[in-house]
Amino acid sequence: MPGEISPWLLLLSLFGTSHSCLQDPSSAYKYTGIVCRLTYPAAVVLNEKTTKVIEAAFQHARYPSMQGEKSAGFFGKVSYGLENLEIYNLSIGRSDFELRPGEGIGLEINNVSAVFSGTIQYGYGSWLVNVGHRLDFEVETQIDLGINPKLYCGNSKVAADTSDCYLNFHKFRLYLEGDKEPNWLKKLFTDFITFTVKLVVKGQICKEINKLADILAEFIQDTAANFLSDGGISVDIGVTTTPLITANYIESYHKGLTTYLNLTSVINASVFHPDHLTENRMLYFWFSDDIFKPLIAAAHQDGRFQLNISSEDLKTLFETNLSSIKPEYVAKCLLESASPELRVWSSSVPTLNTSTVGTSVWAQATGELYCGSQNKPTLSFQMNITVDVSASYADKKLFLHGKPQQISVIRAELPQQNKLINDEAQVEFIREAVEKIGVPKVLSVLEVEITRLMDKQGANLFDIIDPEVLHQEGYIVTQMDFGFPHHLLVDFLKRTLQ
Ligand SMILES: *[C@@H]1O[C@H](CO)[C@@H](O)[C@H](O)[C@H]1NC(C)=O
Ligand SMILES: *[C@@H]1O[C@H](CO)[C@@H](O)[C@H](O)[C@H]1NC(C)=O
Ligand SMILES: *[C@@H]1O[C@H](CO)[C@@H](O)[C@H](O)[C@H]1NC(C)=O
Ligand SMILES: *[C@@H]1O[C@H](CO)[C@@H](O)[C@H](O)[C@H]1NC(C)=O
Ligand SMILES: *[C@@H]1O[C@H](CO)[C@@H](O)[C@H](O)[C@H]1NC(C)=O
Ligand SMILES: *[C@@H]1O[C@H](CO)[C@@H](O)[C@H](O)[C@H]1NC(C)=O
Ligand SMILES: *[C@@H]1O[C@H](CO)[C@@H](O)[C@H](O)[C@H]1NC(C)=O
Ligand SMILES: *[C@@H]1O[C@H](CO)[C@@H](O)[C@H](O)[C@H]1NC(C)=O
Repeated sequence: MPGEISPWLLLLSLFGTSHSCLQDPSSAYKYTGIVCRLTYPAAVVLNEKTTKVIEAAFQHARYPSMQGEKSAGFFGKVSYGLENLEIYNLSIGRSDFELRPGEGIGLEINNVSAVFSGTIQYGYGSWLVNVGHRLDFEVETQIDLGINPKLYCGNSKVAADTSDCYLNFHKFRLYLEGDKEPNWLKKLFTDFITFTVKLVVKGQICKEINKLADILAEFIQDTAANFLSDGGISVDIGVTTTPLITANYIESYHKGLTTYLNLTSVINASVFHPDHLTENRMLYFWFSDDIFKPLIAAAHQDGRFQLNISSEDLKTLFETNLSSIKPEYVAKCLLESASPELRVWSSSVPTLNTSTVGTSVWAQATGELYCGSQNKPTLSFQMNITVDVSASYADKKLFLHGKPQQISVIRAELPQQNKLINDEAQVEFIREAVEKIGVPKVLSVLEVEITRLMDKQGANLFDIIDPEVLHQEGYIVTQMDFGFPHHLLVDFLKRTLQ
């Protein structure tokens, strides 16, 4: 049933030149189908969760055993090793951040207090020969942690380089079990433990934070890509350039290319400009018409735009009051046929066009009404349909509102009688039925479908607050505030750190 392949080829061209990570954002704009802007207020909300992530990093870090050796005059050499390093009673004071334009993000976590415990083994002479003694220790610490992540374009994704990471110890109080050891030995262990614990903790914590940053960044981007992809249709949200950081926002630029079968769409004339977005909401998504056109073309090609309505559903739909009179064969079909069925599908590649009034969607649709006989429809018709669609979002659900612009019957016939319908009243009935029954029905099916996609992949990870959808020339902006439910983050960290 889906239409012929040629219009499809007009929209998609095989593996266009791929532009990965252009140096200059403004030259990357025209290859950018999706833009995400996260503003300072959003960063404030996320920062409230930073302490949770840091806590996870500390607790999850595994501390390796360390060994050393020191000459101790009269006693010859003392060998010693540190093992079973563990962390207790972690508490995190507060975290602060700033956006550093053109540079990165500055993150400071103050007053992390923690107790590390472990065992020190030591022996005189060669390590391998003599490991006689064990001593448990505890270190009370108070630490300030600073991380200056830089965002870059890695492997076509936004990646965070957190290698600029430092720990300052304000307090480092060591308790050795028992106090039997000679002073010089205590001094030796104090030096060793101080040095080693600082080194190990710094190395492991920074490593763990790096890993978590990667996991989080990857998770968010995979969720977004999966959200837009379904079945054989996928959307590449790889980045076109390095994210931009200003004093007020972080902005990332994504390709938004549809792949279906072995064809990938091309975006090379996107109209994006930073002025399209403001800075007073937390989160913005900018979508070019250029991402939706190939996406709906692929959905059409994949046979997604098909709708069969039968029996009671169909009868209920036709209870809608129309001003034109039901032709007799329609009335008879609904009343007398045991299982009447209406089949509708898109019969050529639909397209769309966004302007300030909404997104104007054009489609050619074919419909067939079956009244008993399964192989020959009673009525068959083809339509041109242009509908202005706008969207809104409330209660975790997307709503589509459709305003029919132009609905015209291209051809209508009664196949069983091999007869074209020319009667104006009958043609008008079909037109009115499509406008008042068909269009709302299709939109409600689409709403359900999109809501299903949103539920499918962690779209509920955030509490979306007061979202708005704005339609502009050639693009759509969705803007919202959000909350980040505590338990979701905790669950997520638990799952990923297993
Ligand atoms: C952790 O804190 C509790 C209560 O504050 C205390 O009883 C316990 O000794 C602490 N543990 C360590 C290893 O310091
Ligand atoms: C750090 O914590 C200590 C006690 O827990 C508190 O007295 C001090 O004010 C805190 N410092 C900062 C910078 O938060
Ligand atoms: C897609 O792949 C199939 C089989 O691999 C090939 O026959 C077809 O020509 C390809 N389509 C295009 C547009 O290259
Ligand atoms: C944009 O892509 C289309 C389709 O591949 C191509 O025909 C056109 O020449 C490209 N335009 C520019 C400016 O690269
Ligand atoms: C509609 O009915 C036709 C004929 O029975 C069938 O081929 C098609 O898959 C159905 N489409 C949907 C979406 O159920
Ligand atoms: C249809 O119109 C009739 C008479 O005008 C009215 O009584 C009925 O409630 C209407 N039905 C619907 C579903 O609007
Ligand atoms: C889209 O808009 C442009 C300019 O506003 C217009 O020329 C074109 O016909 C429109 N296309 C559709 C499918 O509405
Ligand atoms: C339907 O749309 C096509 C493509 O825009 C156009 O060529 C045709 O004239 C239209 N037919 C009617 C009846 O509106």
